[in-house]
Amino acid sequence: MKRMLSGIKPTGQLTLGNYIGALKNFVNYQDEYEMYVFIANLHCITNYQEPAQLRKNLKDAVALYLACGLDPNKSVIFLQTDVKAHPELGYIMACYTYMGELNRMTQFKDKMQKGEKSMTAGLYTYPCLMAADILLYNPDYVPVGDDQKQHVELTRDIAQRFNNLYSETFTVPEPLTQKVGARIMSLQDPSKKMSKSDDGDNKGCIFLLDDLAVARKKIMSAVTDSYADVKLDKENQPGLYNLIEIASALNGRPMQDIADEFKGKGYGELKKYVADVVCDKLAEIQAKYNEIMTSGMIETVLKEGAEKASYVANKTLAKVKRKIGLEIR
Ligand code: TYM
Repeated sequence: MKRMLSGIKPTGQLTLGNYIGALKNFVNYQDEYEMYVFIANLHCITNYQEPAQLRKNLKDAVALYLACGLDPNKSVIFLQTDVKAHPELGYIMACYTYMGELNRMTQFKDKMQKGEKSMTAGLYTYPCLMAADILLYNPDYVPVGDDQKQHVELTRDIAQRFNNLYSETFTVPEPLTQKVGARIMSLQDPSKKMSKSDDGDNKGCIFLLDDLAVARKKIMSAVTDSYADVKLDKENQPGLYNLIEIASALNGRPMQDIADEFKGKGYGELKKYVADVVCDKLAEIQAKYNEIMTSGMIETVLKEGAEKASYVANKTLAKVKRKIGLEIR
């Protein structure tokens, strides 16, 4: 059975972008693949997080993994800090990564260009930790949204470099993105990725735990265009395209089908359709989330996940240390 690994960094509440680009696919793949899914809590602290809020976000994220359909009997679900091998291999991977490579990472470059003053060393080296997160488990595939593809490509380069130096050690993983939904855009600015941090009032971003009325309002006031003609035209009508893509990713209807249905009708009708699709999905997820939060199962899932993940990760780490010459025995 081929293996997959992926993770989400809950610096805030999980978004519809996280669900469509990542989480929903983890759930679909868990029957066919040996699946490792973790909460990337070490990645959260590359900038300051209020401790009580961070704790809540982490617990919510586990509950949402389960509410979205990840099944602990099929997938190994764990918290990054419960597996001590992550930061240790992360440091080692940093020693096989060039600063030039880190300088080229889009996420880092964007922040640099925006003139962010308080960038931490943790943020800079985070792709090395991400490489460790992946390589510890030797997965064949890493299902991610579009924005994380570059980090997986770097992981491949580091793995190949290490294998060439010390003989075959790591599986060189492939990033796996979906045709529909790999990059959900902001509802307020369809040239930007939907993201929890980008706009202050969050009108462009739907959270999985948003009140349904709030989510509906965000969709109804999504920025579109003045063509007044429903068409699938990513370049000229990116806002509309994004809304259709969201609905298609959630209900599986081909995008063209949805566009055809609303041809000649107003944007309002299309938005209402998309809002219905989104709200039905959120309602389903939130009902399960509420059950899980009161069930007491989160601790058990994480404990079992940490044991299974540690077993695999520790074996890889031991092999790496032996090959490098770090062990005396
Ligand atoms: P993060 O937490 O930013 O995002 C988690 C996953 O959600 C996807 N995603 C989106 N997909 C489509 N449209 C969007 N608007 C959107 N926003 C987010 C991301 O592509 C990602 O797949 N560094 C990673 C976390 C991580 C990780 C790993 C992932 C740490 N170690 C190892 C895979 C393997 C991150 O910050 O993702």
